Amino acid sequence: MTTPCIIRGLGHCVPETRLTNADLERMVDTNDEWITSRTGVKERRIAALGETTVSLSHQAALRALENAGMQAEELTHILVATFTPDAYIPSSACMLADCLGIIGRTAMDISAACSGFLFALEAARAIICLHPEAKVLVAATDVVSSRLDYTDRSICILFGDGGGAAIVTADTGLAPAGCAQVLDVLLATDGSAHGLLTVKGGGSGAPYKPGETVRRDFFVEMNGREVFKYAVRAMSSICKKMLEKNSLDKDQVDVFIPHQANLRIIDAVGTRLEMPTEKIFTNLQKYGNTSAASVIIALSEAREEGFIKDGNLVLLSTFGGGFTWGSALLRF
Ligand code: ACO
Repeated sequence: MTTPCIIRGLGHCVPETRLTNADLERMVDTNDEWITSRTGVKERRIAALGETTVSLSHQAALRALENAGMQAEELTHILVATFTPDAYIPSSACMLADCLGIIGRTAMDISAACSGFLFALEAARAIICLHPEAKVLVAATDVVSSRLDYTDRSICILFGDGGGAAIVTADTGLAPAGCAQVLDVLLATDGSAHGLLTVKGGGSGAPYKPGETVRRDFFVEMNGREVFKYAVRAMSSICKKMLEKNSLDKDQVDVFIPHQANLRIIDAVGTRLEMPTEKIFTNLQKYGNTSAASVIIALSEAREEGFIKDGNLVLLSTFGGGFTWGSALLRF
């Protein structure tokens, strides 16, 4: 049996430094018109020296705790979804727990690329089923710039850095106004497509020897066209499945927040779902694709800006390397 869960607080944090399309024109052979028409991205935020997955997660977590009216001390579990951890050891979750000044709790990283937030949200729900008193911090953060080759114009224009956080607890019926009920989460993967979107270098399958300079495989590599096609199919079909499973019509959805990868992908998914554009929240124009952080930043910002109102039914969808994809249904 599922224990009903709520998101008690949301927060996000993006670096101050902006990388605009004009800046990229000076770095690679590209132009604002190409980037805007192919992706919709106008600028992205890039981590400064010392700004990391852990530090962005920390700021996002503090905001989520404040939003929830909770103290870090109350947290029982810390999850960090990322493909750009500060280090292989220790986990970013252990480092985040240290930043928050808490010791002796469960802390672990989750790897699902751009779908990281939904995979971590589902893990939080499972933890709460086992431990109904749990108060789980779900952070989803990527410093994608640390794994981008800024001489590769086909990829470096797509991504930006950022982090988001949500505090997830059981729904005791006593939650203050403003919380979101997590009605359902659906996840899927297809490992047979693993070669289409990769960051292999430095892993045990592509190790580096002392003194060796980084190879191409250290950075994000992608077959953009294939990723595009698969992402459209996967996100639209899992959203349809989510609506069917919950006996909902698309008209009952108030806000749709898809993975903020590319406006053309979002338009294609919106068309397949027959979702009116005014219900679709986008912020990729200013942040680019922030990977695991993408939908949690969008969710936090949409709530903060009043795009999501009390009572709204919100549909989320993600897609990432693996391939991984998912959908979640929230009621604010
Ligand atoms: N500026 C100018 N020209 C460029 C650029 C650039 N930045 N990048 C590529 N081009 C050129 C190519 O060299 C090619 O030129 P050619 O025809 O002379 O060979 C031409 O533009 C077309 O290139 P395509 O790759 O075919 O362009 P496409 O229309 O497919 O758009 C894009 C590329 C934007 C990457 C698209 O495929 C896409 O958005 N794919 C999805 C990517 C994505 O969102 N990935 C993240 C998923 S989630 C995760 O987990 C990370």
